[in-house]
Amino acid sequence: MSTFTIDSGTSRATPSPVPGKRMTVPAIRARKQGGVTAEPIVMLTAYTMRYAQLLDPQCDMLLVGDSLGQVIYGLPSTVPVSLEMMCAHGAAVVRGSWHSLVAVDMPFGSYEASPEQAFASAARVMKESGCAAVKLEGGEAMAPTIAFLSARGIPVIGHVGLTPQAVNQLGGYGARGKTEAEAEKIVGDARAVAEAGAFCVVVEGVMEAIADAVTKAIAVPTIGIGASANCDGQVLVTEDMLGLFERTPRFVKRYDDLATQIGAAVEIYASEVRSRSFPTADQTYRPKA
Ligand code: KIV
Repeated sequence: MSTFTIDSGTSRATPSPVPGKRMTVPAIRARKQGGVTAEPIVMLTAYTMRYAQLLDPQCDMLLVGDSLGQVIYGLPSTVPVSLEMMCAHGAAVVRGSWHSLVAVDMPFGSYEASPEQAFASAARVMKESGCAAVKLEGGEAMAPTIAFLSARGIPVIGHVGLTPQAVNQLGGYGARGKTEAEAEKIVGDARAVAEAGAFCVVVEGVMEAIADAVTKAIAVPTIGIGASANCDGQVLVTEDMLGLFERTPRFVKRYDDLATQIGAAVEIYASEVRSRSFPTADQTYRPKA
């Protein structure tokens, strides 16, 4: 069942606080013209309504990443993430945004078996969340599926290089492309998904030179994460860049230290509760004088 209502005047799921139009797939694709992207694409992950509201004004795309498995649910990897989780969080992010294009990750096991399985899963995600695109991991092997979805009205973001859903096969989350054969395979994967119809491609956890080669090799924008400053856009997991985790991967730049700020605020709250200095008259209901 759908959990959002379409604002038919603007095609937005929620009314906009300011006049404007939600970013579209053709607009994102068109950022790269003749191999050049004058304005890099800004993308962050979002899993909840409130984060979406806060990130939306600065972003071109919000990604409801399956990284929510670890970030929100404390799971050991993205492998256990379900289609239900992605639909629910996707709908929340659509409700909290009005400007960014919202893309939702296809979780492990929901698309790999066949193009038909992928279509059924992606159509469900789009109907239940109101998102405009889906992202799926994989290179050459996924090209026929991407072509099948793209030909049927489902915009697809590709994802090559380090593909976290394959962690059990890869044996970890280390950067990819350290051998020439692996580097060639990643460039070939990116070419295959772009030629199959992906409107942009996430390039994750690869040697810088490979990300540069991929960005030169494909006509559609690349979105880097642990890749290269020369990619056509960048994405990070928001909780990582805000400093909500003690440990962050090398490719993450921390733009704040929210874990420390939250810890300090909660410490003051706990001490005020214990000393009965919260709540005060300001936070208490009393009969009007
Ligand atoms: O799941 C996710 O958050 C992602 C990004 C890291 C690209 O796929």
